[in-house]
Amino acid sequence: MKTLFDEIRIGSLVARNRLWRAATWLNMADDKGHLTARLEKVYLDLAKGGVGTIITGYANVLEEEQPNPRMLGIYNDSFIAEYLDFTKKIKAEGANIVMQIAYGGSFTAFQPDSREIWGPSPVPHPLTKVIPTEMSQDNINTLISAFALASARVKASGFDGVELHAAHSYLLSQFLSPYYNQRTDQYGGPIENRARIVIEVLDAVRKEVGADYPVFIKMHCTDDWADKGLTEDESLYVAQELEKRGIAAIEFSGGNLDDEEYPNMGPGRKGILKVEKQSYFAEATARIAEQLKVPVISVGGHRTPDKLEGILNSTKIECFSLSRVLHSEPDIINRWQKDKTAKPRCLSCNKCWDKNGNICILIREPIMGSHVSM
Ligand SMILES: Cc1cc2nc3c(=O)[nH]c(=O)nc-3n(C[C@H](O)[C@H](O)[C@H](O)COP(=O)(O)O)c2cc1C
Repeated sequence: MKTLFDEIRIGSLVARNRLWRAATWLNMADDKGHLTARLEKVYLDLAKGGVGTIITGYANVLEEEQPNPRMLGIYNDSFIAEYLDFTKKIKAEGANIVMQIAYGGSFTAFQPDSREIWGPSPVPHPLTKVIPTEMSQDNINTLISAFALASARVKASGFDGVELHAAHSYLLSQFLSPYYNQRTDQYGGPIENRARIVIEVLDAVRKEVGADYPVFIKMHCTDDWADKGLTEDESLYVAQELEKRGIAAIEFSGGNLDDEEYPNMGPGRKGILKVEKQSYFAEATARIAEQLKVPVISVGGHRTPDKLEGILNSTKIECFSLSRVLHSEPDIINRWQKDKTAKPRCLSCNKCWDKNGNICILIREPIMGSHVSM
């Protein structure tokens, strides 16, 4: 029987358990994306709290492109010295740390009028209504090289791996999507073309970091968006291409952000206290994992250890990553190690965000007495 607390190996990465902290933007870096004491403390608490592998909130690969305020930066070498010190501190607590890197694009409400925002095609984002500028081949080359250089910095900074963000309607996932990507050149049309930029990014990253450095990707198992979205079969195609080119593991999220036609179908769904509503991408992810050799990490609505161990022992999913539960309780993994029945405090209310730093609302405004009833 596999358990959540088995030690695992993915290439050179050895983790004390199968539980990852999913990338979570904290809104606590400084205005240029540098570390602050407050931000470091959140990560140290996660490492002390038993997480096997922490994925950072997304870090921007180009200085002029920042989808959210006070996110981490990795757009030049000025970050390397401070990140080296930071990664040492996290590893001293027994956790791994992987940096997620991203180009945001039109899923942004941050100063959208003050900068050029790239996209595959000038299609308005369903949530933000931002219309990006269609990328030229030059823009595409700049982007690929920015991902590659950023990955080299991640490696030089002592991170245990790098994760490419190709999910949640940020730029790389927009290329994969038939809704956002309406191009008629070699980057648009059939999935073989829509996947091209992601594959070119991975190839360029591999050239910079070498064959053995763990490179991960977060992508969708399906957009769950009828004919507007990436389908499960298309996702499998992309995953198999990435596998051929040396991706170390794939983290599968999913969903779409079309709140009008498909409410609560995004990556972080509300109101999932009942066990049957949890782990909402696991079935689609398991079907894809069945056809892959690389390890698969599932993300989305995980909160009950017994359910996770059931999935672990009945599918080829190897690991689970969690965001909101750890956002509320960074030490829940230590608690689960002692008592698998411990219920998370997180109510999946999606009030995780705050302009003064993303902190769970239950911590921001403590509710007296017993506030959790399940
Ligand atoms: C405050 C907050 C910030 C997030 N930031 C990121 C991010 O930087 N990159 C990313 O891939 N996903 C991000 N996510 C999505 C999570 O990684 C995860 O996919 C989603 O919340 C579902 O997992 P959960 O049910 O465990 O929360 C964020 C989620 C929250 C709540």
